[in-house]
Amino acid sequence: MTVNVAVVGATGAVGEEFLRILESRKFPVKELKLLASKRSAGKKMRFYGCDYTVQELTKHSFQGIKIALFSAGGSISREYVPYAIESGAVCVDNSSAFRMDDDVPLVVPEVNPQDIAKHHGVIANPNCSTIQLVVALKPIHDAVRIKRIVVSTYQAVSGAGLKAIDELQKETASILSGHEGFKRNLFPYQIAFNVLPQIPQSNAFLPNGYTSEEMKMVNETKKIMGDNSIRVTATTVRVPVIRSHSESVNIETERKITAAAVKKLLSTAPGVKLVDDTANQLYPLATMAAGKDEVFVGRIREDESIDHGINMWVVSDNLRKGAALNAIQIAEKLL
Ligand code: A2P
Repeated sequence: MTVNVAVVGATGAVGEEFLRILESRKFPVKELKLLASKRSAGKKMRFYGCDYTVQELTKHSFQGIKIALFSAGGSISREYVPYAIESGAVCVDNSSAFRMDDDVPLVVPEVNPQDIAKHHGVIANPNCSTIQLVVALKPIHDAVRIKRIVVSTYQAVSGAGLKAIDELQKETASILSGHEGFKRNLFPYQIAFNVLPQIPQSNAFLPNGYTSEEMKMVNETKKIMGDNSIRVTATTVRVPVIRSHSESVNIETERKITAAAVKKLLSTAPGVKLVDDTANQLYPLATMAAGKDEVFVGRIREDESIDHGINMWVVSDNLRKGAALNAIQIAEKLL
């Protein structure tokens, strides 16, 4: 069976990745519709070696569409997902618009595939940092129950879209060539050669002092794992890396688990690639994960400051498993 697929936000950083993953996984596409803003209408994009013309997104864009993959931001999803559902499409939405709605499943296929069946026309794709975290932690939670998670992220600029990649590249070049006065459009401070403890860059801080990205990690982790009792605290940080988010993760478990047992568990866990050979200086890197599908985990060691604690380093490609790949895996399960 082949189906008609629409990609909303086709011209963005995640949109481009949707096309490459639909091709590489041989997703059964009958017709493909590429949608973006009016600015991009007429632009050509390659799919299976052929040119496809980008069309302007309108409420009539979804006629005959079976699967709609959205990645054009929350306000576009809020406005257009209802039209897509009305036309009979099932939407996989990469924005945060519907993630915490009770009647919208929030799914990572390695963790809670059973939730897909509960959808009413839209399935939410979780936040990129949350996806890689729960893929790495679910097997440990099932084995010894995780009581508390402390996570600090080192997030690539591509999470903020193509304009953010452009700003990092141009700012880096400008600084290296000795030019002063580079004009930033996106980040509040210099991102080249710097580290910014604020994601997203545009949002004000919440009354509790956290950012919305940090609270997404807290709330989405509980929803995906189906366990409200897990305590989660996060610090999310932007680093001058183009692709792949890295995370320092500390967990406290109910029952004791050794570092060796965690390594054994994760060596066969779905979607995980264990890279943990410190004798040979092998551990996950952003450059290692870029363009790959797995969640890379390493530096696994016991937290010697508490009785039942583990530290680890978790890295994954934010545009693939953190966005487009996870959404397409959901769509595959839908079919
Ligand atoms: P466009 O390229 O026409 O602006 P990124 O996350 O890389 O910034 O990409 C955002 C995606 O969302 C792009 O494909 C962008 O299209 C799309 N987008 C932004 N605003 C709209 C809009 N008003 N209608 C449809 N698509 C939009």
